Amino acid sequence: MFLLCPTDMLHVLLRQVICSGDCVVDATAGNGHDTVFLAEAVGDGGKVIAIDIQAEAIEATRQRLKESLLENRVELYQVSHADIGQYVAEGVATAIVFNLGYLPGSDRELVTQSETTLMALKASVFLLKKGGVLAVVCYPDHPGGDDEAAQVVCFLRGLENFRLAKYELLSTHRPSPFILFAWKKSNGSK
Ligand SMILES: C[S@@+](CC[C@H](N)C(=O)[O-])C[C@H]1O[C@@H](n2cnc3c(N)ncnc32)[C@H](O)[C@@H]1O
Repeated sequence: MFLLCPTDMLHVLLRQVICSGDCVVDATAGNGHDTVFLAEAVGDGGKVIAIDIQAEAIEATRQRLKESLLENRVELYQVSHADIGQYVAEGVATAIVFNLGYLPGSDRELVTQSETTLMALKASVFLLKKGGVLAVVCYPDHPGGDDEAAQVVCFLRGLENFRLAKYELLSTHRPSPFILFAWKKSNGSK
């Protein structure tokens, strides 16, 4: 058995829900690792909408997609995910992914913020299709990350018509990162 980093674990979980032809959203594109994974998962007929507030992140993601020959499956937007509703139609997304925190290798001051993360999550509830999943990787070990993580848990716990799971990776970083998976119930599911 090998140990998974949060991103690997996230991808293992997302593989269970994403099918070929799906529309999915990366709400924090960063260096493009998640976007490339999502573009592979949706296949030729699928679509990824990838968002990041930083030009550097959008460029890094564009480059990674180019190297993987996956550019044609992805729409890239340099905007805040607080405005996610302007880029995704209601009820169409199979997965909306947030990998919170800062861009690795970049300015650590430019981190996701509780207020905008919550705005984006609230909008995302309506953008998901039934049976779709809201996936959030939280990093409570950096300044402000603990408060953001607590607010995300509180918000997702309060959602009706969703089932919530938490996957925690016990790491040398304390407190450990964790993944929240919120499934939008389909008609008739418990
Ligand atoms: C941990 S990184 C994402 C890692 C990325 N998913 C990957 O695979 O490389 C977090 C990203 O969130 C972005 N971010 C911060 N605030 C944002 C906002 N309001 N809207 C969109 N992206 C934001 C940062 O610019 C940073 O690139």
